[in-house]
Amino acid sequence: MHVIETTSEQETIDAGERFAASLAPGDVVALIGDLGSGKTRFAKGISRGLGVKDHVTSPTFTILHEYTGGRLMVYHFDFYRMKSVRELDEFGFDEYIDGDGVCLLEWADMIEERLPARRFEVRCALGETETQRTITIVTPPERT
Ligand SMILES: Nc1ncnc2c1ncn2[C@@H]1O[C@H](COP(=O)(O)OP(=O)(O)OP(=O)(O)O)[C@@H](O)[C@H]1O
Ligand SMILES: [Mg+2]
Repeated sequence: MHVIETTSEQETIDAGERFAASLAPGDVVALIGDLGSGKTRFAKGISRGLGVKDHVTSPTFTILHEYTGGRLMVYHFDFYRMKSVRELDEFGFDEYIDGDGVCLLEWADMIEERLPARRFEVRCALGETETQRTITIVTPPERT
């Protein structure tokens, strides 16, 4: 388990960027934490670290955004507005999970029963001040 304290949006992006170096084809990253805790900023850093040029934002109206052009394909999901886990099958969720890209799953706790056991877990938490965040990264056992 790796704990990072950040004090600005940029530091959280940078932390994501550094973390991206440890990602390999087929990896799944579950991003969990309160509203505004930094999940999207960290995801943006991961995409940057993988070499994606696009501007990564929250996939607000679509559950999935795909990013090409980096070292690995990036599939950025946000389950916040999803009403039922059954919606996952409508876009073939398991195929993304079993594929060669990297899946970034915001609000992964909303689909707990469908998460692969082999996953990175990134927990974001608000700190005492407006700009403090604590990011806890848990690496799957077979990758340590
Ligand atoms: N240390 C920090 N790290 C990340 N974001 C920070 C930090 N300090 C302030 N912020 C602000 O907090 C917000 C984090 O937003 P972000 O979209 O990344 O959160 P989120 O966890 O994805 O929220 P949501 O659940 O709504 O998708 C941004 O407005 C950012 O500017
Ligand atoms: Mg977000």
